[in-house]
Amino acid sequence: MKIAISTGGGDAPGLNAVIRGAVLAAVHRGWECVGIRKGYDGLLGQEQLVPLGPAEVRGITHLGGTILGTTNRGDPFHWRERLPDGTWVEHDRSEELVRAFRAHGIGALIAIGGDGSLRIARHLLDKGVALVGVPKTIDNDVGGTEATFGFDTAVQTATEAIDKLHSTAESHERVMVVEVMGRHAGFIALSAGLAGSADVILIPEIPYEMDRVCNKIRQREAEGRHFSMVVVAEGAVARGGEEVYLDAERRRLGGVGDRVARVIEQKTGKETRTLVLGHLQRGGSPTTFDRLLGLRFGAAAVRLIAEGKFGHMVALDPPTIVSVPLDEALAAPKRVPLDSDSIATARDLGISLGD
Ligand code: F6P
Repeated sequence: MKIAISTGGGDAPGLNAVIRGAVLAAVHRGWECVGIRKGYDGLLGQEQLVPLGPAEVRGITHLGGTILGTTNRGDPFHWRERLPDGTWVEHDRSEELVRAFRAHGIGALIAIGGDGSLRIARHLLDKGVALVGVPKTIDNDVGGTEATFGFDTAVQTATEAIDKLHSTAESHERVMVVEVMGRHAGFIALSAGLAGSADVILIPEIPYEMDRVCNKIRQREAEGRHFSMVVVAEGAVARGGEEVYLDAERRRLGGVGDRVARVIEQKTGKETRTLVLGHLQRGGSPTTFDRLLGLRFGAAAVRLIAEGKFGHMVALDPPTIVSVPLDEALAAPKRVPLDSDSIATARDLGISLGD
């Protein structure tokens, strides 16, 4: 058996642990592994396949990023190419990719990706590629699994940032607004906001009203707390408003933190600063939790191949790793449930959720 591994979409801490887990579990069965460079580029003439054996995956569990490289512009069904005149055209190169899998004698693919990459994998399955999925994203928004690897590290990074901002906010008696990633899900904001003792947490699942946010800050002021910490998910929306984009055409979220900060300053008169944590949340060494989850996901993906469970994705159903059909995982994106105990905890702690 020859297994190919691909890492597509945005990187997430723990990717290398998945690669190591998968490669060693495959070698353990006497199977061969290759890595596809940069999503599927390595099979579409752009880059190469790289051999993956024990030597290649030695000492990588603690490393951030992915040794295979990745891209979030590598959809073989909608391949974008820039013409000499600067315009872009789109091709479907999926048949070419399927032929390349066959030409290289690849018997199974482990597709490690978030929502977008797993959807591409699902279409490749329809074209006859035997594959299994591994859910990856710092956003934790893939259905069918309690957690994706990368999320815990991102929350740790965001929590540490909020901790550090607290002392400077207090010294200067300012409001600090921290914008965190998460796309259309508020998991990072809610977890880091709770752990970092934020006063206001704004998440996409709960449209916010600036009057409510400002009331919380005024209430703290009246209680002699002259600083406040506001955590805003990049996908948060004002009631009746829309998501804020840095680049609307490419749907790159960003800028809501600044927008919230400006209104806070205008309405409360409090000096307010914004910090956008951005890609810091995707970088660095994975936490112990993400390393373990990555290793377990990688080895479990190889077990799925051994069982012939193609079209399935490994998933965490604590305390164990299970498998779910890709169709089930992709049926609906995961969002923070409004009846979750984390939301109830935030409200019980007196944190404003902007509603
Ligand atoms: O999905 C992971 C993520 O980091 C999101 O939280 C964020 O919105 C997006 O990717 C950023 O993508 P890019 O790296 O293309 O700017």
